[in-house]
Amino acid sequence: MTRGEPIIELQDVELAFGDKIVLSGLSLRVPAGMITCIIGLSGSGKSTTLRLINGLRLPQRGRVIVKGADVCGLSPAELIALRRSIGFAFQFAALFDSLTIGDNVALPLRENTSMSDEEITATVRETLESVGLADSVDRLPAELSGGMMKRAGFARAVVTKPEIVLFDEPTSGLDPIVTHLLTNIIIDINRRLGATVVVVSHDMQSVYQMADRVALLFEGAIIAEGTVEEIRSSDNPIVQQFLQGRDQGPIPL
Ligand SMILES: Nc1ncnc2c1ncn2[C@@H]1O[C@H](COP(=O)(O)OP(=O)(O)O)[C@@H](O)[C@H]1O
Ligand SMILES: [Mg+2]
Repeated sequence: MTRGEPIIELQDVELAFGDKIVLSGLSLRVPAGMITCIIGLSGSGKSTTLRLINGLRLPQRGRVIVKGADVCGLSPAELIALRRSIGFAFQFAALFDSLTIGDNVALPLRENTSMSDEEITATVRETLESVGLADSVDRLPAELSGGMMKRAGFARAVVTKPEIVLFDEPTSGLDPIVTHLLTNIIIDINRRLGATVVVVSHDMQSVYQMADRVALLFEGAIIAEGTVEEIRSSDNPIVQQFLQGRDQGPIPL
C-alpha cells in the first residue's frame, strides 16, 4: 500500500461494555507507513481502539476496515489471520516468565511461519540486535529492567515484519532517558520496516518526537486529528487543556 493511503479506517464506530458506552461516533483514518499517536485520558478507550484495529473486539455499530477488509465481514479464521498479521506491543510486555528472551521473541515465528530453526535463530538475533538486546537472548524476563522488557516486547511484536504494528503505552512508567530510547526504537521500526505504526500514549514529549499524525480521543470519539503542529496550535480548549495537563478547563475531572 502506498505511503499515506488509509490502511486502517474506523467509521462512526460504537462499542459498549454492557450498558456502558465506551466509544461512540469514533472515526479515524490511519495513513499507511506513518506513525499515528492516539492520546487521551485514562479510561477513554485507547486500548479498546487498538483491540478493534487488530480484530480482538468487534464494533457494535460502524465499520472497522483494515487493509481493505471490513473486520465484521471476516470469518473466525480470517480474524485470526488478521490478528497474526498485526504486531502488538502490549502495555505490560506480557512475556512468558519461564522462557528466555530469545524463545519469547521466537514464538510468533514458530507459530505463524514455516521457518527452519536456523532461520528462526538468525531472525531472532537480528531483531534483538535492532532493539539493542542482542546480549540478552539467553536471559529470563525477570533478569531485565523495565525498559529492556519493553524492548523485548517490541522485538516480539515486529519479529514477523508485520505491515502494521500497534504499541499500547510503550513508555508508561519509565524515566525520560529510557522513554527517549524507546521512542527512537519505534521511529526506527517505522522507517526500517516501512511499517504503519499506531501508538497509544499520554507521554506528550514522546508523541511530539515521533508522531506524523496525532488523534485525541475524548468522550468516545476522536475530537481532533492532525500533525503535531496542527494539534499544538489547535484552538479547541479541550485539546489545549489536555496538552498542557491543566486541571482547570472544560474537561470534567
Ligand atoms: N473487557 C472489558 N469489560 C468491561 N469494561 C471494559 C473492558 N475493557 C475496558 N473496559 C472499560 O472501557 C473503558 C475504556 O477502557 P480502555 O480502552 O482500557 O481505556 P484506556 O486504554 O484509554 O485507559 C474503561 O472504562 C474500562 O473500564
Ligand atoms: Mg489502556
